[in-house]
Amino acid sequence: MQIVILKDAAEVAAYGADLFTAQLKRKANSVLGLATGSTPVALYQELIRRNQQGEISFSQVTSFNLDEYLGLDGSHPQSYRHFMNEQLFNHIDIDKANTHVPPGDAKNPIVACDEYEARMTQAGGIDIQLLGIGRNGHIGFNEPSSGLTSRTRVKTLTKATIDDNARFFAADEYQPHLSITMGIGTILDAKKVVLLATGENKADAVSAMVEGPLTAACPASALQMHRNAVIVIDEAAASKLKDVEFYKHIENENQKLLQHLASL
Ligand code: F6R
Repeated sequence: MQIVILKDAAEVAAYGADLFTAQLKRKANSVLGLATGSTPVALYQELIRRNQQGEISFSQVTSFNLDEYLGLDGSHPQSYRHFMNEQLFNHIDIDKANTHVPPGDAKNPIVACDEYEARMTQAGGIDIQLLGIGRNGHIGFNEPSSGLTSRTRVKTLTKATIDDNARFFAADEYQPHLSITMGIGTILDAKKVVLLATGENKADAVSAMVEGPLTAACPASALQMHRNAVIVIDEAAASKLKDVEFYKHIENENQKLLQHLASL
């Protein structure tokens, strides 16, 4: 795991946007894994800005989102398809036919999960996967106790996640308790993983992910097994890590090495 600790949420978004920009410059037809939630919004705004200024293009990109509420179709304002259209796809030069979000309205969700996996494989696999982290350590909707090799499937949300996401639903609005989510095994198959976390309320989850044991009790700890996982966090989210100075020192050395390699 590469741990990058930055001052605040704005720096985290810019760093994440740089990683996606570099990926798109390296491979125009990249397969992107995308996330919803509050955390990636600033990164998406930065990617929109860079796209509109002509720095990057999404015209050859294929995307797969991590998850969707089961029971909401893509036109529902709280669906993750709607979120992605509003927060990113409507503002960039991506072909929406190449954007994939698990179908929350699937007649047979079990079959739909297998089809989603097959589509990712046909696309050549995910080049770079964006992640947030839940306060309980979830990634995607893989809640604590999720199998560490799990694939895309139907998952029941915990009360903690339902409560955390209730802010997006009106008081009398139906809020689903089920989801379709990529599995932890699916996420680990991505060639690169970029997890963003900001704010003090993520500090316990970040500490369990980075310094805790590899355990299904903290699904994000599975990223310890990934060869190319970058954890980009602000000072507040890093506040419960034991060895912040060491992580900062490593990152300094990483940057020096990159500069040296670029000068060769
Ligand atoms: C979103 C997702 C979730 C969120 C996590 C953090 O597609 O899969 O795992 O990344 O719940 O959400 P925020 O960013 O709202 O704190």
